[in-house]
Amino acid sequence: MREEILSLKNQAISQIHLAKTAEELEEIRINYLGRSGKLTQLFKNLSSEQIDEKKLNGLLLNEAKATLTTSIASRKNSLKESARDWFDPTIPGIKPTIGHLHLITQAIDEIAKTFIQIGFVRVRYPEVEWDWFAFEGLNMPKDHPARDEWETFFITSAPDPKFGQMVLTPHTSSGQIREMKRVKIPPIRMINIAKCYRRQIDTSHVPMFHQFEGLVVDKDISIVNLKGTLDYFARNFFGKERITRLRPFHFQFTEPSFEVDVSCGICRGRGCKLCKEGWLELGGAGMVHPTVLKNGGVDPDKYSGFAFGWGVERTFMMKAGLSIPDIRLLYSSDLRFLKQF
Ligand code: PHE
Repeated sequence: MREEILSLKNQAISQIHLAKTAEELEEIRINYLGRSGKLTQLFKNLSSEQIDEKKLNGLLLNEAKATLTTSIASRKNSLKESARDWFDPTIPGIKPTIGHLHLITQAIDEIAKTFIQIGFVRVRYPEVEWDWFAFEGLNMPKDHPARDEWETFFITSAPDPKFGQMVLTPHTSSGQIREMKRVKIPPIRMINIAKCYRRQIDTSHVPMFHQFEGLVVDKDISIVNLKGTLDYFARNFFGKERITRLRPFHFQFTEPSFEVDVSCGICRGRGCKLCKEGWLELGGAGMVHPTVLKNGGVDPDKYSGFAFGWGVERTFMMKAGLSIPDIRLLYSSDLRFLKQF
């Protein structure tokens, strides 16, 4: 009986696969599982068997019945599906969702364009950098307290005898000396936009962010050139009516040094919720320190220069007039947020 059950089952399965209509399937069902179907007949024959045989064949029969029932049902479904497989050109299409560049990438492109328009050259320098380019060459000797401001990630690798340890660039100023060494003889008009890393994370800081660094070195470069460039940027990036102001500050690698503010776009200098008394802080700037020029192989008696370095994220948020409660939102990949830009 055992062989008979298996061969009936196989036979039925191959017929089910070949069936083309629901009617054919129904016929197959009746033929095997109906009142006088072939499997049903075997169920009836069970009663005349020995007790052991009965048990085993009973199990086999039940299994065959279950398999055929589910095969018939699933074949019925797939016939239904393929029946629906016709093309109706009048049904409105499904629009594919189209992505766009991340808002910070958009901001970087726009910043680059604004400076390239007035003759700056966009460059990139290593994100994993020697201590010397990030600090020492910028007039911050080892153990100088000014270094504390840049909460630096150090790489565990053998230090170089001249350049010291490897770090993740904590600011784009590390590109200043690299650019002087690349160009060798001024004029230099550099815009270095890159990732920066600092050991910080809270609502207004992320461990990986972006800065853009301007460096201009030539004969007779003065604060007037710096101020003119900053005002040009403010007008072009933020809007015609925006202006900048310089506040005295201190950096080891510039002398004199400034913090740059831009007039608030909402209250235009009168003072509002978004700004501090009408001004928004952009970032640092100054006239390149003679020691830094020397370290870059440029003669400070012949040439002078200015530099500035600001955060892209911060600058972008000021442009958009956004008050984002948590800067980490920018990098959260939350489409509900990103789709707005
Ligand atoms: N590198 C400085 C910072 O990270 C900014 C700066 C750049 C200041 C260039 C002066 C000149 O804060």
